[in-house]
Amino acid sequence: MAARAPRYACVECGATHAKWSGRCDACGVWNSIVEDAGLAPGPAKSLGAARGRPVVLSDLSHAEPEPPRTLSGIAELDRVLGGGLVPASAVLVGGDPGIGKSTLLLQAAAAFARAGRGPAPIYVSGEEASAQIRMRAARLGLSDAPIRLAAETNLRDILTTLEAERPSVAIIDSIQTMWADHVESAPGSVAQVRAAAHELVSFAKRRGTAVILVGHVTKEGQIAGPRVVEHMVDTVLYFEGERGHQFRILRSVKNRFGPADEIGVFEMTGAGLAEVANPSTLFLSERGAASPGSVVFAGIEGTRPLLVEVQALVAPSVLGTPRRAVVGWDQGRLATVLAVLESRCGVGFAGLDVYLNIAGGLRISEPAADLAVAAALVSAREGIALPADLVVFGEISLSGALRPIAQGEARLREAAKLGFGGAYAPKGSKLPAASGLAMETVANLAGFIEKCFGPARSEPVKRVPGDG
Ligand code: TYD
Ligand code: MG
Repeated sequence: MAARAPRYACVECGATHAKWSGRCDACGVWNSIVEDAGLAPGPAKSLGAARGRPVVLSDLSHAEPEPPRTLSGIAELDRVLGGGLVPASAVLVGGDPGIGKSTLLLQAAAAFARAGRGPAPIYVSGEEASAQIRMRAARLGLSDAPIRLAAETNLRDILTTLEAERPSVAIIDSIQTMWADHVESAPGSVAQVRAAAHELVSFAKRRGTAVILVGHVTKEGQIAGPRVVEHMVDTVLYFEGERGHQFRILRSVKNRFGPADEIGVFEMTGAGLAEVANPSTLFLSERGAASPGSVVFAGIEGTRPLLVEVQALVAPSVLGTPRRAVVGWDQGRLATVLAVLESRCGVGFAGLDVYLNIAGGLRISEPAADLAVAAALVSAREGIALPADLVVFGEISLSGALRPIAQGEARLREAAKLGFGGAYAPKGSKLPAASGLAMETVANLAGFIEKCFGPARSEPVKRVPGDG
């Protein structure tokens, strides 16, 4: 057999390339392409379609029963899964190392074990020794849960065990440590991670076990990231959070059995992850009296309304190119909002450093946050505080117009529940007649700024708070 030509694969997205390059064309990430020998060579000849077996074709009208689901009893987790874990499904839980994936899944395994349907869950760790996991379980108060543990990385042995035991749930922590002996490359390479995920997902489909795979998000280097297997699994969840904060968000980014973009909120405590049933109160808990630069955004995460505080700070810059620092929001989106403020509303930020922060370590991707961000920026720049009991939502278009927003009713209900008294929303949004809040609707950003901060300016004001 002729020597196989080297192949290259991106460890971020798994795209394969014939040549090495510094940047992956498929996902745009730099320095992520590595040589990958284990991929099978392409077919030499055509398939010969005449020799296949005809496939049975059916129509769409057959009513399929809803898949039965197993509830863990951890409500935040069950909701993110779309109402419980579906048998024979494959779930990927991705996240940064140390964020709490193993803790969450050990707690979930215990919860499934105690819910007690079918043979007890199996938890396979390729990263920690059984003794370490037992210590963690003791700390979490889970020592009595009927989980079956294994510390193993050999995929062949793991699959043999799973075939024999047929657990209701199998947790593999992590997919990057698994080693399939039929693939030539090192554990953690794109080929190994793919092969291991493929074997485990086929096992799930074949035997009806729900398989949960842990995947570490890798910053760089030779280890394949979880994105490499996203397309193979039914559900992709990411566990996020800022290191310094105790809040953790479990977010579904893909779900064949439920809504995507659903979130579950947890708090990392000394005794493991605690559910946060009412996240709005939590994310607003640090908020004091009204202050310039602080605005509350009435958002929707998945199916759930969530109030969060947007904080902005604007200060004179000593740099040639002023700083634009963002935590929890999109950098490009901030640039857009700043540009709209400058060209459509006459509120300039040239020569000013801008810091934007979503409180509590939450990441927001909803376009409806635009208006709250713009309000926080202008409020910080002018040194004028908005009322503390005001919520704001609306998407800003490049023309400076505000686009109507969906689910206005849920947003306002949550705000009223938490004692807010007023709201700004884009004109044209479907809003309830009586929300209990003093409603103001505005058609464009300039109109909003005039209502909140006084008459529109034709000239950009260069004054900043503290300038005298
Ligand atoms: P871990 O679940 O090991 O993270 P991952 O599997 O995503 O790498 O979580 C590790 C962190 O969680 C560690 O820094 C300690 C912290 N932790 C707590 O604060 N409380 C606890 O009860 C546990 C078990 C962990
Ligand atoms: Mg871990």
